[in-house]
This record gives sequence, C-alpha cells and structure tokens, in this order.
Amino acid sequence: MVSSPALWLIWALTSTTFASADFVSDLSGKGFQVLVPGSSGYANASTAFNLRFTFQPAAIVYPNNAQDVSTAMKIGAHYNHQVVARSGGHSYIANGLGGKNGLLVVDMSNFKTVSVDSSTNVATIGPGNRLGDVALALNNKGRALPHGTCPYVGIGGHSGYGGYGFTSRKWGLTLDTIQSLDVVLANGTIVTASNSKYPDLFWGLRGSSSSFGIVTAIHAKTFAAPASSTVFQYNWDLSASSAASAINAFQTFVVSPSLPQEFGAELVLGAGSSKGRVSFGLTGGWYAPANQFAAVIAPLLAALPKPASQKLTVGTYINSVQYLGGLGRLSTIGIPDSHDTFYAKSLMTPEGSPMSNASNLAFMNYLANQGFGTNTDWFVEIELYGGTNSAINNVASTATAFANRNSMFTIQFYTSAKGGVPPFPSEGFTLLDGMVNSIINNNPANWGYGAYANYIDDRLTNWQTLYYGGNYPRLQKLKDQYDPLDTLNFPTAIQE
Ligand SMILES: Cc1cc2nc3c(=O)[nH]c(=O)nc-3n(C[C@H](O)[C@H](O)[C@H](O)COP(=O)(O)OP(=O)(O)OC[C@H]3O[C@@H](n4cnc5c(N)ncnc54)[C@H](O)[C@@H]3O)c2cc1C
Ligand SMILES: *[C@@H]1O[C@H](CO)[C@@H](O)[C@H](O)[C@H]1NC(C)=O
Ligand SMILES: *[C@@H]1O[C@H](CO)[C@@H](O)[C@H](O)[C@H]1NC(C)=O
Ligand SMILES: *[C@@H]1O[C@H](CO)[C@@H](O)[C@H](O)[C@H]1NC(C)=O
Repeated sequence: MVSSPALWLIWALTSTTFASADFVSDLSGKGFQVLVPGSSGYANASTAFNLRFTFQPAAIVYPNNAQDVSTAMKIGAHYNHQVVARSGGHSYIANGLGGKNGLLVVDMSNFKTVSVDSSTNVATIGPGNRLGDVALALNNKGRALPHGTCPYVGIGGHSGYGGYGFTSRKWGLTLDTIQSLDVVLANGTIVTASNSKYPDLFWGLRGSSSSFGIVTAIHAKTFAAPASSTVFQYNWDLSASSAASAINAFQTFVVSPSLPQEFGAELVLGAGSSKGRVSFGLTGGWYAPANQFAAVIAPLLAALPKPASQKLTVGTYINSVQYLGGLGRLSTIGIPDSHDTFYAKSLMTPEGSPMSNASNLAFMNYLANQGFGTNTDWFVEIELYGGTNSAINNVASTATAFANRNSMFTIQFYTSAKGGVPPFPSEGFTLLDGMVNSIINNNPANWGYGAYANYIDDRLTNWQTLYYGGNYPRLQKLKDQYDPLDTLNFPTAIQE
C-alpha cells in the first residue's frame, strides 16, 4: 500500500501503530514482560477471542502489580499510544486489544488473587481471574457471587460492564456487588474508589470501567453459597405461532406476584426440526430447596405444550455452576481458551411494555423461516433480568453507570461462521439485523429499549443511548475530568 521509502517514513512517523524504539526500550527492563510485533509469543498474545477481528497492538505488557500498571500507563501516554486493559480477552469486538491497531495493551492475567475477609465476607479479586476460577475459590470459603456461566470469561471486563447469571434476580449483577475498586487512572495515579472516596469515579467504573482507568483489584461483597441448587432444562420443537404463544406465557409468568427471587431463567431459541418451526428451550437455576421447585414452575408449564424433553439436575451450588459452564470443569488454569468467529447483538426490553403478541409472532416467524437453512449457525437467548422483585431492577438507574434497570429481558442474538473459523459471512449481519427489527418494528414507536454493553456490538448506531441511557452526559463529564487526553480510547469508549 505504501510503496516509496519516503512515504513509508512519513506513514511510520504519523501512524499510531508505529512502536518507536524509545517506546519499547522505556517499557523494557521494568520487571514485567513486554511483547512487541516480532517477539516470540506476540502473534498468539494478539489473537482475539472473536476471530472476526485482527488487531496489531504496538505492545502487550504483563504487569505484576498496580505500580507496574501505572508505569506502563505513563509510558503509553508519553509516547502517544492509547492504552487499554485486557483481563479475560472475551470482548465480543476485541476491545481488550483496543478494538483498533496501535494500542498499548495492559494484560492483567498476572492479577490472580482471590481472598475473602472472614469478618466482612468482602472478597478481593484480581481482574485477571476467569469466572470459573473465581467461583471455585469463593466456594472454598462457602461464598458466591452473581456472574455469567462461561468459565473462561474474565471477571475484569465482566464486572466492568454488568455481569449477569441465573443468581442475578436474587443477588444483582456482578457490578452491583462491588464495594470498592483499586484503579490506575489515565495519568498513572493509583487510587481506591468507593462510595466515600472518588464517588463519581466509582459510579462511572461500575458500568463503563475501561473508559476511566485500569482496575487492579475488585473488592466485592459475597453471598453464602446456597445449600441446594437445581438446574432445570425443558425443550420443545414448536411451530412459529406456538412459540410466540409460549413467549407470551413466559412474559405473563415472570410478573406473577408470587415469583421468588431464587428463580433465574432464560429462553433459548434455535432453528427447529423443519422450516416453519423453532427449537424452544427454557433453562435456568433454582437456588432454594429442590422440593419447592415443582410448585414454582407449575403455572408456567400449565400454560405451555408438553415438553419434548426435560431434565432437573439437583446438587450443591458449585455443582450447578460447573454444570451450567458446560465444560465438565471450572478451573481454567493451564488450559488455553477456545475461539469463535461471530457477531452478536442485544436488546433489553422494557418491563413496563412487554413485547407485543404481534412482535412475538413476527419474531418467531422470522426465526422459523429466515433462520432455517442459513449459512451461519445461530442462537437467541432471552435472559430474564426483571420479573417480580428482581435485584437487578431494585437498583436505581442513576445509582451506577449501568442505566438499564427496568428491563424484563436482555435478548442476545448470536451468529457464528460455520465451524467457528473465518471468514465471517456478511449474511450473518443481515440475519441478526432482521431478528432485531422483527421485534422493534412491532412495538410502539417510542418503545424504551436498550442494549447490553457486555454483549458489545461494533455495528450498533446510537450505542451511547442504548447502553447508557440518561447516564451518558454524566459519563462524558467524567471522561473529561479523568481522561482529558483520551489515553483510554477504544471504539465504544465514552467520548468527551
Ligand atoms: C463465551 C462467552 C460467554 C459469555 N457469557 C456471559 C454471561 O453469561 N453473562 C454476561 O453478563 N456476559 C457474558 N459474556 C460477555 C462477557 O461478560 C464480556 O465479554 C466481558 O466484557 C468479558 O470480559 P473479559 O475480561 O473476558 O474481556 P476483555 O476483552 O479482557 O475486556 C472486555 C472490556 O473490559 C475492559 N477491561 C478488561 N479488564 C479491565 C480492567 N482490569 N480495568 C478496566 N477495564 C477492563 C477491556 O478493556 C474491554 O473493553 C460472555 C462472553 C463470552 C465470550
Ligand atoms: C397476548 O397473548 C396472551 C397469551 O397468549 C393473551 O393472554 C393476551 O390476551 C394477548 N394480548 C393481545 C393484546 O392479544
Ligand atoms: C497463547 O495465549 C494464551 C493466553 O491468551 C495462553 O493460555 C496459551 O498458553 C498461549 N499459547 C502458546 C502456544 O503460547
Ligand atoms: C491525576 O488525575 C487525578 C484525577 O483527575 C487527579 O486527582 C490527580 O491530581 C492527577 N495527578 C497528577 C499527578 O496529575
């Protein structure tokens, strides 16, 4: 592309991808590992979880403590390299690599502490831990946190933007459990943010963390691990109209006054057995005595056709976490992660205005027809965020940067290239756009929906409002205050 040597020099001097010798030598010899283009291990370390993205960081560093993070941050800023944290690397759009070329990536994988204060039950968790390892370490102390099911997701990104699992109706999102955060600011200053120290920063870090700093320790309140947990799974193969009625029934069920917080669930939809049909699953967790579950689920089952299959798995809390993780183990130590090549979207539906029957029918018709025989694999998860007395919605929308506190569902639309390897076919984008539009176009024009920043979407327009609602202007002011030089920048960073 750039052919003449003179032009190359100009390009190199002006391009942010260019890692100068001074930049590299300043990072070196500081007591932490540094990888730059050409280093052995750089190619692997710069590979995104989602192979739809390839980015070339200027350098990847592996600090061992907050002081190292501060050192790296200052060097990055000095040489005009924007800086980004990576914890588990599971960002859907490779924001842990900066979401573009030329950043300084601060990889947090050496931050692996998990400890629990035995008097307060507050856990101190290094952001480089994966969810499976956090669950195991807390369970060893009889404690637990609300979080997602995938064992390899990093707690660093997960807790910065939400953190939903089947215990969230009872315990809230992962970010709702945070009491304080140790964080390195864009100017390299190390602070602890809480409701009493840097309260405005603390507010922004819970919902939009990477725009404001690099978190080096998460201090989170924990909960007693329930004595018994039941994972439930029901499956149907339904016509589009039966599937639409089943969603209607689920929407009615979740707002019944008697629904306990110990009930967490999602609907899982996929291609049915033939064109015109939908694979329809109900799965979730029940975190109270197993013998009470039948009475809780009975009204819903009574409103649905007889399931084609069903399974209840009763055990300890940690059994349920492992079972839901789907790998037959929770530990991730020493076993590398897998990859996928995918695109995902999300839609957070307002509890006060459930999806109309027309919308459910249009949506199910779309899945049953356009979703059948496509050249990508896909699934949809309709995750229950709201319903009666949900702990997620018991938090005010302005209490943290996470604004969407009145949702009934977060719907995740996910499609991957066949075999999970590139290239990603562009029909995948069209398929998912059509799914989302089948819902939005069949609800009121002023329907108050949002989107979920942990299911981050590189093609979403108006993401500022959909992710952050009325909190966005306050986030912009904070960005101006804490990162005036825009050192912490990536495609969906808060813009001053
Ligand atoms: C297979 C899979 C399953 C999932 N299941 C669930 C689920 O059940 N529930 C749910 O809620 N979500 C789920 N997610 C989404 C997941 O919560 C997000 O992708 C999450 O942001 C990943 O965090 P990470 O640390 O692994 O990713 P990273 O790519 O490392 O980071 C994600 C973002 O957070 C920032 N960040 C990371 N660490 C820090 C830090 N220490 N300080 C400041 N900013 C930081 C990064 O810069 C980046 O912008 C799933 C994702 C995948 C891939
Ligand atoms: C929508 O469907 C539900 C359940 O099938 C039904 O009770 C309700 O009356 C329907 N609403 C409308 C407006 O048709
Ligand atoms: C590649 O990087 C991952 C971490 O991202 C690590 O677990 C794995 O061991 C590395 N593989 C090689 C061959 O270095
Ligand atoms: C770094 O930024 C913080 C937050 O804006 C500020 O309080 C602090 O004084 C700054 N430190 C330096 C050395 O400029």
